[in-house]
Amino acid sequence: MARRKLVAGNWKMNMTPTQTTELVNTLKPLVASDDVDVVFCVPAIDIPAAVEAAKGSNIKIGAENMYFEEKGAFTGEISPDMIVDSGATYVIIGHSERREYFAETDETVNKKVLKAFEHGLTPIICCGESLKQREQGITIDWIRQQIKIAFIDVTADQAKKAVIAYEPIWAIGTGKTATSDQAEEVCCAIRACIRELYDADVAEAITIQYGGSVNAGNAAELFAKPDIDGGLVGGASLKPDFGKIVNYK
Ligand code: PGA
Repeated sequence: MARRKLVAGNWKMNMTPTQTTELVNTLKPLVASDDVDVVFCVPAIDIPAAVEAAKGSNIKIGAENMYFEEKGAFTGEISPDMIVDSGATYVIIGHSERREYFAETDETVNKKVLKAFEHGLTPIICCGESLKQREQGITIDWIRQQIKIAFIDVTADQAKKAVIAYEPIWAIGTGKTATSDQAEEVCCAIRACIRELYDADVAEAITIQYGGSVNAGNAAELFAKPDIDGGLVGGASLKPDFGKIVNYK
């Protein structure tokens, strides 16, 4: 059975709650689709407004980050219960911006992935190499390491429901998209790594997205690749173009 495509927006640090209501209302008719799943990952403070505005549509709401403790003295952090209670069902884990600016590591990513599953949230687990790593020829080794650590203690049933977003750091927000062949090569290697860690069933079920300067012009070619099950979209997810990405066919 063919895997369903999942197109997720990553709003990053954009939009106030008021603007969120407006943007979701604008995009709602444009992202309607029967065969593509759609998620808007929004700043934590925007989740209630996004959930309210998305009611009755095909849009699911996600958070962009989450802490791995249940509660307590962690000033400024957002817990899994808070996200669930706000009505979000997805959470981005380990985005390269979190790793670069907020010191997240493969180990904290693993803790967050386990917590997300414990609370019934679907993690969108990010991985990706820097330009230097690509030039050094270690892309696949690096990605395999990120994936292996992220999935420590994750059960096969959980892994089947996971989403992995392959996002080469050099392609994020740069307008420099990986070619569809480059993206497919790594997404295929990720699926092979999951097959090794679990089995063919899990590898066939898991959703693997590409992210990094996805736009209305390149989505169709990227999503046509056999191991690319959709995209994680930053800049273009804030524009009407997002509807064209969802309806890429
Ligand atoms: P971009 O961001 O589409 O703006 O390159 C993607 C991401 O960071 O998830």
